[in-house]
Amino acid sequence: MADTHEVQFSRGLEGVIAAETKIGFVDGVEGRLVYRGFDIGTLVEQSNFEEVSYLLLYGNLPNKKQYSDYVSKLKRYQVLQKDELDLITKIAHEAHPMSALRTVVSYIGAKDSRTVEPDSEVQEELGVEIIAKIPTIVSAINRAHEGEKPLGPDNDLSYSSNFFYGSLGRKPSTIEAKMLDAALILHADHGMNASTFSGMLTISTLSDMYSTITAAIATLKGPLHGGANERALALIQKVGTPDNAEKVIGGMIERKEKIMGFGHRVYKVYDPRARILKQFAEQVTKAHGKENLFAAANKIEEVMISKLGSKGIFPNVDFYSGLMYYSIGFNPEIFTPIFAVSRASGWVARSLEYVRDNRLFRPKALYIGEKGPRKYVPINERD
Ligand code: CMC
Repeated sequence: MADTHEVQFSRGLEGVIAAETKIGFVDGVEGRLVYRGFDIGTLVEQSNFEEVSYLLLYGNLPNKKQYSDYVSKLKRYQVLQKDELDLITKIAHEAHPMSALRTVVSYIGAKDSRTVEPDSEVQEELGVEIIAKIPTIVSAINRAHEGEKPLGPDNDLSYSSNFFYGSLGRKPSTIEAKMLDAALILHADHGMNASTFSGMLTISTLSDMYSTITAAIATLKGPLHGGANERALALIQKVGTPDNAEKVIGGMIERKEKIMGFGHRVYKVYDPRARILKQFAEQVTKAHGKENLFAAANKIEEVMISKLGSKGIFPNVDFYSGLMYYSIGFNPEIFTPIFAVSRASGWVARSLEYVRDNRLFRPKALYIGEKGPRKYVPINERD
């Protein structure tokens, strides 16, 4: 019997619409990113990360009581147990920070008996718990990676400033605090990207939220998803000064090399996140005596747009973010875990939304192998 659900073959599911969402919209033509109807520029200017996290999860900006309840919950859950910190200390010296993050989130979930057949209320609670703990885990991983002891959360600080303090061991300046909060807002959700899809796929089997986020972290680890900002920073450092940009970038384009931090599958115009981050990058590089790197980055952008802008290639979110994080003192290996701190809210929101109207993901592969039947030859008779 003909399968009435047969759809066209699409490699990597490109262009396939597999879910409905009210959470976020990436408009690649107009260059807009919208969370629950709000332009991200408006949220960066007027809101903060805690509000945006709540907005992604619950659909509306919180009123005062909802806000203070949500912030209290985040503060209550952000603390890690001694065995969790010990595990971080044990593995973070040698493990890649993303492997360490994946392992620690999975470990915390393994200890939690609520992860056995959780109902939707429990899934939501676990999600908020993970959003609260991820910055503490990444901060402790960063410290352990540098051979330092973890710093306890400071309850007077906001979500992003606490993450800054826990990671770098000092409180942020006003501009640093605003910059990191903006970066977390801008990375919190971005359509059905690979890690978000991975989380949705996992929860669609009715697995628990810790497994869902562990899968999402594992997917974010790959260089085709997280990680381009580390390479973009390396390129900016290699170019070093504006004078070198034309020669280095021109040569790379001639050799058909990909320039990290440019181009996007959805945006064929300037990535709206990059536009905002560029302004912060200019300010923080100035504050930390790294104006030369900003000038080099700006010139790389100019060269790229003059040569490839007509092809729809512009800076993406990764071009200026690494430069910003590096300027304030983050080690490049921690850039992708910072992405995870932010994206955890999007992962939780999208997986909860999906599982509330669940349909097990089960695509098919087009079989292009031998149809057979082949004759079975016993092992001692084979060539
Ligand atoms: N540098 C040089 N040429 C490029 C670049 C680039 N960064 N991006 C695309 N092109 C060229 C590509 O060589 C191809 O040229 P031609 O038509 O002559 O063969 C054309 O543009 C189309 O390329 P594509 O790879 O088919 O385009 P895509 O839309 O599928 O690729 C991309 C999107 C992000 C994979 C690609 O632009 C890329 O590899 N960029 C560098 C890595 C990067 O910055 N990744 C982070 C993406 S943003 C992450 C996020 O949103 O979370």
